[in-house]
Amino acid sequence: MTARLVVLVSGSGTNLQALLDACADPAYGAEVVAVGADRGDIEGLSRAERVGVPTFVLKVGDFATREAWDAALAESVAAYEPDLVVLAGFMKLVGSAFLTRHGGRVVNTHPALSPSFPGMHGPADALEYGVKVTGATLFVVDPGVDTGQIVAQTVVPVEDDDTVESLHERIKVAERAMLVDAVGRMAREGFVVTGRRVRIG
Ligand code: GRF
Repeated sequence: MTARLVVLVSGSGTNLQALLDACADPAYGAEVVAVGADRGDIEGLSRAERVGVPTFVLKVGDFATREAWDAALAESVAAYEPDLVVLAGFMKLVGSAFLTRHGGRVVNTHPALSPSFPGMHGPADALEYGVKVTGATLFVVDPGVDTGQIVAQTVVPVEDDDTVESLHERIKVAERAMLVDAVGRMAREGFVVTGRRVRIG
């Protein structure tokens, strides 16, 4: 059976593209059935449109409250009956309505090695701290900021002459490979969460 993925994006969507490319092979075991965003006019949405994947946009500012936005997002995602929801560069925290509806099958990718450097500035914070390695983390989304159970991690070196941009680009190359590998295995083999630990298969 092919797993149904709904992917949420906020930006360039290179992680989404990596998933779309992987899903082109039936042996991958998953298909992207919809792409959602919290803003319009982004390359992430164009990437979905180019391959005929349905898209939807829900902007926080179009709702009376953050909770109303969160509930609407939960409904829009649910309409596509996903087996897995992938937050791929989605720059909003999902709330309690979303997690009540979809919790346990929502994963997010973060450009740092959790539990270090949570939040919006993972690459900049790692550079500032002076770590010699950093990377990316795929985790099961919980109510915290990048605190969920870890599904996969990948490590990259920090080079002496790195800028935030060069470091983030190096992370993103590894992040896309990690995402494609882990989501494919989750789709094909399933996964079990026990306490803090995630086991695929
Ligand atoms: C990724 O590094 C993601 O972890 C971070 O923002 C980046 C999104 O990149 N939150 P893209 O939109 O997939 O190209």
